[in-house]
Formats: sequence, structure tokens, C-alpha cells
Amino acid sequence: MREAQPRPKRILLGVTGGVAAYKAAELTRLFVKAGYDVQVAMSEAATRFVTPATFQALSGRAVFTDLWDNRIDNHMAHIDLPRGADLILVAPATADFMFKIAHGAADDLLSTLCSARDCPLLVAPAMNRQMWENPPNLRNVAQLEQDGVIVLGPDQGEQACGETGFGRMLEPEALFEYVEAFFQPKYLQGSRVLITAGPTFERIDAVRGITNSSSGKMGFAIARAALEAGAEVTVIAGPTALATPAGVKRIDVESSKDMLAAVNAEVAKIDIFVSVAAVADYYVLNPSAQKIKKDAHILTLELAPNPDILANVAGLAAPPFCVGFAAESENLLEYAEQKRRRKKLPLLVANQVQSAIGADDNEVWLLDDQGQHKLPRAPKQEIARTIVRHAAKLYREYQS
Ligand code: C5P
Repeated sequence: MREAQPRPKRILLGVTGGVAAYKAAELTRLFVKAGYDVQVAMSEAATRFVTPATFQALSGRAVFTDLWDNRIDNHMAHIDLPRGADLILVAPATADFMFKIAHGAADDLLSTLCSARDCPLLVAPAMNRQMWENPPNLRNVAQLEQDGVIVLGPDQGEQACGETGFGRMLEPEALFEYVEAFFQPKYLQGSRVLITAGPTFERIDAVRGITNSSSGKMGFAIARAALEAGAEVTVIAGPTALATPAGVKRIDVESSKDMLAAVNAEVAKIDIFVSVAAVADYYVLNPSAQKIKKDAHILTLELAPNPDILANVAGLAAPPFCVGFAAESENLLEYAEQKRRRKKLPLLVANQVQSAIGADDNEVWLLDDQGQHKLPRAPKQEIARTIVRHAAKLYREYQS
């Protein structure tokens, strides 16, 4: 029998009258692309910045602006629209809108349906710096937070009015990611997760080094997934230009020795260790402090093996729950299972070098004491969520 598909999450997106309203169009597109069901409701002022037709085209649904809209049979848009919504997000939220909600006003469609909701309300303020810092506005924001409304941002930076400071709406991508995280089950609430990510860089001389083509994408995707699952997350990252997911603590390192030292400094504080980094197997025994000059001779480097960070952690007297990764170019499952046993890991994620390195999607196997589970090819973020869910389940079993 085929499993029933869960219904898409419903987002009621409120748009109020600020210049950032044009960014709500992009936000609508991101939600729709990710499979959310989006219903847009606009304040009258918002329609002066962007027309309802834009949101109608992007969401595929009629847009409502008026409390007395007769397209809804019972003329109760304020009751019908929030019904069944999993979340209301108002982006941009003006100072005036926040004033209204903080005081329980219900004099237009958007404020009325916020009052009549039985789902979480999130607001993304957007306004001029001085309006944001205006004491009554800050009082309203504090009141909203006290009432359980989640206030996202604002960001700081350049503003449409030419000033610089706090008041910019968070970018659509950041709001989208927050909502995605909001909907993830909190499997790891209260636990602390340490992740190593990216390559390491072993110095040869002042400018050269040995590294590998790990991008760090999988490690950072695991970090985001663990954060979404409610964990406190630290990433120890080798050289990578990837942005740190908001809310993750990042420690940058260069060599495998630095990574080992950083892991050792953190390991007593954590519950789960996920070792995603492609740690160099060897380091250069006598790196030169100066740039080695080129000449016609053969240059010989002496390499010594690096300590295995993961095996060290898993071998501690009271180790955290350890998850390892293995990238192999042949005999994947056989080599990966040998590695899992040798390093004494309850869970190991195995993938083919050819499909994993640098790509945005991946195909992996989860190896644990119960056997081997293949996950379908998917974007790394989706794979990371599945790995975190599986790790959290095993972690709970190990604890009990
Ligand atoms: O033995 P191999 O390098 O394939 O093992 C991969 C796993 O071990 C990965 O989880 C990797 O992060 C970890 N590892 C480590 N320290 C090393 C080598 C690998 O933590 N020196």
C-alpha cells in the first residue's frame, strides 16, 4: 500500500505597505518552489508598492486585501483565511502594522485575521532606522515578543531612504530558511552537536600546501539540519568560503592538527560528534617558513600520518555519540563497514567519491548495527535532514 503523502504546509503570507514589499514576491516564489501552499493577504498600503496580480501569479491563488471581499461566500475572510494555516508570516511588517497587532487592533483584513488566528505569527519588520529606534516602536516589538509573536530581524545595512542602520527586512532567502527550520521536528532539542567540515590544508611552505577537493557543503548542511532539529551546533571548519548558517557557532582551522586541537577543546561539552571533514591523511614533516625557491632538482617531501580525529573521539572512555563519513571510489559498502567497525562507530554515512565531492546533491548509505540503508539521490540539505533524523533516533536508543 502506498503511504499517504503529508499535505503541504500552508503559509498565510501577509504583506504590509513598505518598499520591501517587492521582496515578498521573491519570498512567495521560494515558498511555492519548495512545495508550500501560500495564501497572500495584503494591506491596502501594500498594494501601492506591488499589485495583488503579482502575488496572485506567483502563489497561484487569489489575493485578498479587503475585509468585505465578496469572493468568500460567508464574507468572513478574516476567519476563513487563517483557518488551516500552519503559520502566518507578515513580511514586510511596518511600524504601523506592529503597533496594531501589539494593541489588538482589528480594523482591516490583515490585522483582523491575525487576531483570529490559532497558529504561530511571525513578523519581519522593515522600516527606516529612526522609525525602528523610535521608543514606541521598540515598546510594540517587546509587547509582540511577550505575546509569543516571533520577530525575525530586522537586519542592518543600507536602506531605501539612503540611511544606514537597523530596519532592513531580512532577505527572502533568510526568511525562507527560518520558516523551513520552524517546520522541522525538534529531534535534537537540548543536545549539543559538534561537526567537522571541509578539507584541511597541510603547509609545505609559506605559500603552498596539500589539500583536497572537499567543499564543506555536506558538513554545513548537517550543521543546518542539526540546528533545525533544535540542537546547539558548533562547526569546526577547514578552509571553505561557505557562509555559516545563522545560529551555528563556527571555529575556523587550517591543518588537521588545528582541527584535532579544536575538537579536543570542545569534546567534553557535546553529546553528538559528526565527523564530516575530509581530514588530510598526511602532513609535511618539515614545512619551510619561507617560500621554497624553484630549481632544477627533484623536490622530496617527507610526509607523516595525521592522527585520526574521529577514532580518537570514538575511543574516549565516555565518547559522545559518533557519526562518521566514508567516501570511497570502489567497494563502497565493504570498505565503509570495515571503517565503521574499526573506528567503533554506531553510525557511518557512506558515499561514492564520484557522486559526493563538490556536488549539490548526493546518494548515500547509512550503515549501523541493524544493517545498510540506502537513501535516494537528493539535495545535500535533504540528505542531511534524514541523516540527522536517523542519528537522533539511534542516539536516543543508545542513551536508554
Ligand atoms: O579513514 P577515512 O579517512 O576514510 O575515514 C573517514 C572518517 O574519519 C570521516 O568521518 C573523517 O571525518 C574521519 N577522519 C578523521 N581524522 C582523520 C581521517 C579521517 O576524523 N585523520
